Amino acid sequence: MDASSSICCLLGNPVEHSISPLIHNTLAEMLGINMAYCAHKIEPDRLGEAVRGAYALGIRGMNVTVPYKTAVIPSLIGIDDIAGKIGAVNTLVTGDGGYIGYNTDIIGFERQLLDLGITLPGRDVIIIGAGGVSRAIVYLCGLKGVRRVWLLNRSRGKAQALADEVNERFDRDAGGEGVLVKVLGLDEYSSIPAGKYLTVQTTNVGMYPKTEAVAIMDDGFYDLVETGVDLIFNPPVTLFMDKCMKAGANAENGLKMLLYQGVAAFEMWYDVKVGEKETSHILELMKRKMGI
Ligand code: ATR
Repeated sequence: MDASSSICCLLGNPVEHSISPLIHNTLAEMLGINMAYCAHKIEPDRLGEAVRGAYALGIRGMNVTVPYKTAVIPSLIGIDDIAGKIGAVNTLVTGDGGYIGYNTDIIGFERQLLDLGITLPGRDVIIIGAGGVSRAIVYLCGLKGVRRVWLLNRSRGKAQALADEVNERFDRDAGGEGVLVKVLGLDEYSSIPAGKYLTVQTTNVGMYPKTEAVAIMDDGFYDLVETGVDLIFNPPVTLFMDKCMKAGANAENGLKMLLYQGVAAFEMWYDVKVGEKETSHILELMKRKMGI
């Protein structure tokens, strides 16, 4: 680093185990950009102060992680339309007088799907879970013209609230196609028409150390899976993925989404295009760091 280095950083709590510094510092090195990226653990009552201070210091860009993806929004001078609809941002870009918020989680997820040869338009998708990450992916499905989302969740009420909101935003009934999002309980999967579906596991069930857990235990469910994407990446092979593969489906964890959300943020901050060479190298470094 020298006097002309630019700085980017992560705001969250906790941040000690974040993989983002590895992603961004490696990108900077490989692309010859004079920047450094660090992680800051922020106390809840100091979030606004942190954002204002970062702008005053000339911090070029920031990532925001749990638990601040929504809480940070009032501290921004603007928000991307889609991120505003999702109600969560993970990337802040310098604007005139403050930061503008974006959501690159959905960009990362879409790019992971593209690597698998999967595009969303016209497709039927099963999503398990209705929390923050699910919300972003359900919106992405609406934006990309998915035909139907089967949203399976433990508490139906929470999933229905999300479905109602998204169905209103992407009003399909007029076209006679029925609503975009249909809600089911975790044990109601037999209502889904027989077929093979892209299935996205968004809950934290099965995450280390409770690796023997899975949101849907019943093997019959996995006959519906064509490709199973578990957004968990620790352990690298979850019980959900194991069940998908035993049913003959393809399965992948969420490591690439994590990589690509970072890549998309870096591309916005520095107006560069990151290539295959960089992404595959960083993916290997991420796996090594996580002992995978
Ligand atoms: P995130 O932001 O990571 O999505 P979240 O908003 O806390 O996290 O959402 C967690 C998701 O995991 C929810 O869908 C939750 O189901 P409920 O809406 O019924 O709470 C789901 N989840 C958490 N623990 C679960 C469990 N033991 N069994 C089934 N689903 C579970």
